[in-house]
Amino acid sequence: MKAHIHGITIAYTDQGQGLPVVFLHGFPLNRRMWSPQVDALSAQCRIITVDLRGHGESDAPLWRYTIDQFADDLNGLLDHLSLSRVVLVGLSMGGYILFGFYRKYAERVRGLVLTDTRAQADTDEVRSGRFAMAQTAYTRGAEPIAEMMLPKLLCSNTRESRPDLVEQVRTIILEMPLSGLVGDLMAMAERPDSVSLLKEISCPTLVMVGEFDQATPPSDARVMAEGIRGAQLRVIAGAAHLPNLEQPEAYNQALASFLSTLRE
Ligand code: MLT
Repeated sequence: MKAHIHGITIAYTDQGQGLPVVFLHGFPLNRRMWSPQVDALSAQCRIITVDLRGHGESDAPLWRYTIDQFADDLNGLLDHLSLSRVVLVGLSMGGYILFGFYRKYAERVRGLVLTDTRAQADTDEVRSGRFAMAQTAYTRGAEPIAEMMLPKLLCSNTRESRPDLVEQVRTIILEMPLSGLVGDLMAMAERPDSVSLLKEISCPTLVMVGEFDQATPPSDARVMAEGIRGAQLRVIAGAAHLPNLEQPEAYNQALASFLSTLRE
């Protein structure tokens, strides 16, 4: 499905009925990364997955991208769907956007699921790495980005035992347009620190992280879980940065049990 928001087309999938749950993917991916969750959870809830601007079937304007703008796009999509309050699930960059969204639109948040993400802003070193990655994407396209990202996204066991999954993720990355790749990198590099926001978050929150995640490790998950009042923490065994794809049963079970506490 497509919505026209802030002058561009945003693509999304809307399946199931009941409690609305909106999923935001990470960098440099798209809404297809949530297919095991759509399959498993749309019998119980209304599952909405979104291609952020610059990704998948959404437009990828060649212009400035910011975390606030992604949050505004999400707000526009909720207006389009006439949804006043939703549960939000964000992975990594999707989680950065959830902090931006909460800062501006907290009243629309029924619950938060922060997966493999962090509240801290980038260090100078990480920011320089993003600049270098943007230059690589500019000169050589998405292929070297896929080679750099795959070992970060999937743990070694997944890479050895699930060639199908490796190819699925690689294909998604190779579809990324340059404007989306570079736009994301700039938006992430410029994002504000959200550590002080954690104590303001008052909705039910589940924090999840893959045990082998090195990009946003379990220590970052603990910062969020300890900072947000009443938050639950689940470490998913046998996964790195994409536990929803590497260990879908464990991830879905934790998510389903959290969502079952939120049904109104
Ligand atoms: C992501 O998965 O969205 C990225 O790895 C996040 C990041 O680079 O900080």
